[in-house]
Amino acid sequence: MAALAPLLAALLVAAAAASAQAEPAGAPDQCTPDVLSRIAFGAGVGSYQTEGSAQGRAPTIWDTFSAASPSKIADGSNAKVAADFVRRYKGDVQLMRQLKMKHFRFSISWARLLPGAKSGSAPDAAAAAYYSSLIDELLAAGIQPLVVLYQWDLPQSLQDDYDGFLSPKIVPDFVHFADTAFRLFGDRVKTWLTFIEPAVFCNQQYGSGIWAPGVANGEAGRFACGKHVLLAHAAAAAAYNSKYRAAQNGALSFSTLVTWAEPASGSEEDAAAAQNKLDADVGWFLDPIFKGDYPASLRAAKGDALPPFTPSEAASLRGSLDFVAANCFTARFVSAGDAGKPGAWRESKVSPVNGSAVGAASGLAWLDVAPWGQGRALAYLQMRYGDPQLFISSSGVMAPGENKLQGAAALKDAFRTDYYRSYLNEVCRAARGGARVIGWSAWSFMDAWEWTEGFNTKFGIVHVDYSSPSLERAPKASALWLAANVFSRGAPAVAHAA
Ligand SMILES: *[C@@H]1O[C@H](CO)[C@@H](O)[C@H](O)[C@H]1NC(C)=O
Repeated sequence: MAALAPLLAALLVAAAAASAQAEPAGAPDQCTPDVLSRIAFGAGVGSYQTEGSAQGRAPTIWDTFSAASPSKIADGSNAKVAADFVRRYKGDVQLMRQLKMKHFRFSISWARLLPGAKSGSAPDAAAAAYYSSLIDELLAAGIQPLVVLYQWDLPQSLQDDYDGFLSPKIVPDFVHFADTAFRLFGDRVKTWLTFIEPAVFCNQQYGSGIWAPGVANGEAGRFACGKHVLLAHAAAAAAYNSKYRAAQNGALSFSTLVTWAEPASGSEEDAAAAQNKLDADVGWFLDPIFKGDYPASLRAAKGDALPPFTPSEAASLRGSLDFVAANCFTARFVSAGDAGKPGAWRESKVSPVNGSAVGAASGLAWLDVAPWGQGRALAYLQMRYGDPQLFISSSGVMAPGENKLQGAAALKDAFRTDYYRSYLNEVCRAARGGARVIGWSAWSFMDAWEWTEGFNTKFGIVHVDYSSPSLERAPKASALWLAANVFSRGAPAVAHAA
């Protein structure tokens, strides 16, 4: 890091000069200074994907899964070392400071903070000291710590004891984890996300089983998981409200993946089909919070497979989000599915009507570049959920072929810069139009271990050379562009409504 600092400073000066000269390289048109100044911009990454130091925590479901089935990880790798963040965080925080990031969104490893995992278990002193020090380093560097509690790394013991999120027993254990984090860190942490993309992890961890812990319980599995995630979130929010909110004055949400569903034609059937997809992906989690129950189309489609809420459970969910956190990456065209089948839809990346694509291909099959879809998604959230404060909690991409690049070539990510310019333009357009956008996080701060993709998927604005023993970090061109045009011009911290 010491050697990197002067180089980085020189690069930042050069990037600022370049952006001052060449207008197209500068901030997106819609991102005028007053709009930028309302939004806190930063970047994030998950604990399991970066921390390493696996010996310093209890095992998680991903340790078990990657050891038992390396063939299910694209490159056969594991995250025992990952980016070695636990030992290198001080240098990384200095890099964040030089990039002028205003927040860093990271998750806390449940298995590290609470090796016993369960309600009543004591925090590990070294883990508590580590997270506390990370938070202090960030604050000293002028960077807001934005903390996620669960990004997919369940302690293995909870899976072994009662099948993790398939059981209501997860609720008090999660509340203990959340309460411990609020108690230890809430004096300094003001923005919390209890969960990242519940629909995604419930589908993949307990529905299809393609992710750890590999439980393929189909609809019953994913909907049981979903219900317990919602109840765990609500109970954690209730603990925050009763014990911490008055003194700590923070805000809570969970992040929701919003893949925009564009009707494939002007027909009523296609409009209804697109709404069915939004209900199934987004309404599954946000409607119970804002409207008191699952969307009607999801109820009609799933019947008894969707476990209902008792009146007191429903009451606990109402109003348990202080803001809406949305992860927006791409869009789909949607047309009517099987006639007569309630809640059905068909989706594609290419319009069945005129053959045009939602956007250009990226380095990821599921992620085509569709900034227009993000714009519509933000307008939808604003309208459907009563104009909440909005936080874009993940935005990012991998360039085609980026994972094959090495050395200086790996830092030239003009594709990512273009992606960010077009997506940020839509965020700023929404904010100019009155959407209450308070924050935006790039996904991800650094190249990391991306679950079943291993190290084959690169989302980072900072490159990590996983072939070098020192796991050398270097900012990509996109990081320098964000620093000069976005990070440095935004609000100093996320401003939550009182
Ligand atoms: C093609 O159709 C889609 C809907 O299926 C529409 O959103 C898009 O604007 C159309 N593109 C062109 C070039 O007409």
